[in-house]
Amino acid sequence: MNCNGFFVTMTIWHLPTDNDRPKYIALADHIATLIQENKLKAGEKLPPQRRLADTLEVTTGTITRAYAEAEKRGIVSSRVGSGTYVSQKEKKYSSYWSSYFPEEGAVDFSNSFAPIGPQESVLHEALQSLSSQPDYLHKLLHYTPERGYPHQREKFSTWLKEENLPSEQENCFFTQSGQHGLFTALQAMTTAGDTVICEALTFPGLKMACDSLSLKCVGLRFDEQGICIEALEAACKQYHPKVIYLMPQSNNPTTAQIPLERRKQIIEVCRRHRIFILEDDVQVLPKKYKLPAMVSLAPEITFHISSFSKRLSGGIRLGFAIVPNAYRTQFQLALRANQWTISSLPVELFTYWCESGCMTTQDKWLETLMDERWTVAKDILKNHEIQYQPGGFNLWIHLPESWSALRVEQVARQHGLILRAGDHYLVGGNAFGYHGIRLCISQPKTTEQMAEGLRQLVTILEQESFAPEQIL
Ligand SMILES: Cc1ncc(COP(=O)(O)O)c(C=O)c1O
Repeated sequence: MNCNGFFVTMTIWHLPTDNDRPKYIALADHIATLIQENKLKAGEKLPPQRRLADTLEVTTGTITRAYAEAEKRGIVSSRVGSGTYVSQKEKKYSSYWSSYFPEEGAVDFSNSFAPIGPQESVLHEALQSLSSQPDYLHKLLHYTPERGYPHQREKFSTWLKEENLPSEQENCFFTQSGQHGLFTALQAMTTAGDTVICEALTFPGLKMACDSLSLKCVGLRFDEQGICIEALEAACKQYHPKVIYLMPQSNNPTTAQIPLERRKQIIEVCRRHRIFILEDDVQVLPKKYKLPAMVSLAPEITFHISSFSKRLSGGIRLGFAIVPNAYRTQFQLALRANQWTISSLPVELFTYWCESGCMTTQDKWLETLMDERWTVAKDILKNHEIQYQPGGFNLWIHLPESWSALRVEQVARQHGLILRAGDHYLVGGNAFGYHGIRLCISQPKTTEQMAEGLRQLVTILEQESFAPEQIL
């Protein structure tokens, strides 16, 4: 870029004036914000250090440290003899899905799949039972209403009550899956150009849905208790968001659970600023570890979406949504627009699972299995900083700041371990310096295979070097 170009772009540079952060951190944060707001674009060169130092009236050393900090966060990269450049944006999803079909013999921790146990025999029984009722089979071949047939609605409603969720039948809809519910809820609440806010590390399906619907997705600072209230207040003023997307029981990937007090604070801010809450409860967690759902605390502004992908099977595509009274027509219209009506067989299978008592047996089986896995996993990883929810599938390992999580992912893969760097979950660059990897301990077929993989990971973490790779 020539000098004139620099002159124009220099107007975006200033040093945030607060005394809490060292100047170089404040400047690195500013770079992250400029990237997030698309004022600095992928591949763009940052100003020469001396020139920026003059503009901001700081020493060149401060700029050097700020650029180094931004590089550590993975949002810029320096090229020897050439300067510092904004890193390419997260590769659109391809990197996220690339390990979907892992190599033969690899231990795969990359997807939170439901472990398969009793489901096979229940599916067998359910299909046999259905096939012996010709009248019923005939009915299943017709279009099915999105709330299901009356006997299915009854079972569904009873199940929701047992899950401590609002169960008013008019507000509860079946969807094809959690992702479908998420997409449909966004369709019902937003119009193109609206802003959706979320934690800075979030479920990639949200980003994909926002992209498809031309929504702006902004990631906010969070801590081990979820989204920070000050960040939320600031975002409301800056972006006037329409929706906040949260996974209050267990964030994917970090597993952070939002405590009751913070849930109430979030609701207070959302009510004041007229923001919808999109509550995603797809990740599995035993009932005893769950806190009151946002939809129970603020039903008038919350769209709650969930599915049976984790507690039953990701293959039987079935999800559900509980929507605010005043928005059920919008939701129903959005469903019509994107699926017309639901598929009858998954709803009937779910009904069978409930009626036969197999759902309760399944929950107990899963809880016991995950208890066993967590006991083993915690012991193997006792020297590492880990975060998890008991009974959940995901494990988050915090990494030292100087490490690159992508490098850990790459090296682990070379050793036949598939896991995911936190980078795949970032919304708009690593503005806040989060470093970690996510492993789904539910995925390996046996607890022994899981243990083997984790032991191998510990060895890798102890023996290898994980500095970010320089781009030369
Ligand atoms: C937080 C979260 N939401 C939604 C989904 C999508 O769920 P489904 O398989 O029901 O579409 C997933 C899948 O992993 C998830 O982790």
